[in-house]
Amino acid sequence: MTTDEAASTVGPLPFDTTKAHQARMYDYLLGGTDNYAADRAAAEEALKVYPEWAFTARANRAFLGRVVRYLAGEAGIRQFLDIGTGIPTAGNLHQVAQEIAPETRVVYVDYDPVVLAHARALLTSNAAGATEYIDADLRDTGTILDQAANLLDFTKPVAVTLIALLHAIPDSDNPHAIVARLMDVVPSGSYLALSHLGPEFLTPDALKETQAMAGRNVQQQITWRSREQVARFFEGTDLVEPGLVRVEEWRPAPGTCETEGSPLWCAVGRKR
Ligand SMILES: C[S@@+](CC[C@H](N)C(=O)[O-])C[C@H]1O[C@@H](n2cnc3c(N)ncnc32)[C@H](O)[C@@H]1O
Repeated sequence: MTTDEAASTVGPLPFDTTKAHQARMYDYLLGGTDNYAADRAAAEEALKVYPEWAFTARANRAFLGRVVRYLAGEAGIRQFLDIGTGIPTAGNLHQVAQEIAPETRVVYVDYDPVVLAHARALLTSNAAGATEYIDADLRDTGTILDQAANLLDFTKPVAVTLIALLHAIPDSDNPHAIVARLMDVVPSGSYLALSHLGPEFLTPDALKETQAMAGRNVQQQITWRSREQVARFFEGTDLVEPGLVRVEEWRPAPGTCETEGSPLWCAVGRKR
């Protein structure tokens, strides 16, 4: 049954499905089925302006996998706070981390009701570790940190992962202060990993058209941030190699040779 069919059997949904949502457009671009007609139409319109969106979604998800393998492996992290989790798909964060370290604990956070409806798929931890789901907005850091403390020990290193999320937070909500608040709570040796849309990668015309399209069709206001603005999220951390790069350039699997490019900056920083 498609998401549209399921919706028609349960009656009106408690949220607007007539305007595209970032989580469901991303799901569509990744080949998922947890999306509505408005999400698919907006994604198709976006692809006409910038055909690399499908590659971008896949490259971002692959970056998430490589980062988590790095953090659970080389960096020895056993606790993750993953905000802006997205609709569960293959290779959810806890599955990747627990393959390396079964005792890993993961707290997931998202504010989309569709993600909440599928949260069961995120609560499938093995017995040695644990996962939890918090239905909250990133901007409500107090609630997130209070509830996350039920599972995470904030005296030990935590990886805070904000993958393809912060461009949904406008400057008026001060995303840099939000990230600083989260990183203040975790001890030295913790990590911050994120990816973020960067305007440098699109021609001025494509950027203008993409922004106009998003303004018309997408619920979230999307804010593209320059390399310098993205770098500022990492104040108080040391970036691990290769630093601030496009998602497909961050420690690519040996033998990878991409012919497309994403418009997503990314980096991983270790708190001093
Ligand atoms: C593009 S998806 C990325 C999913 C996943 N992090 C990944 O990279 O594969 C962005 C997610 O962030 C969530 N999101 C956007 N703004 C948010 C906010 N203010 N608070 C919590 N979640 C938010 C959306 O609902 C969506 O699920």
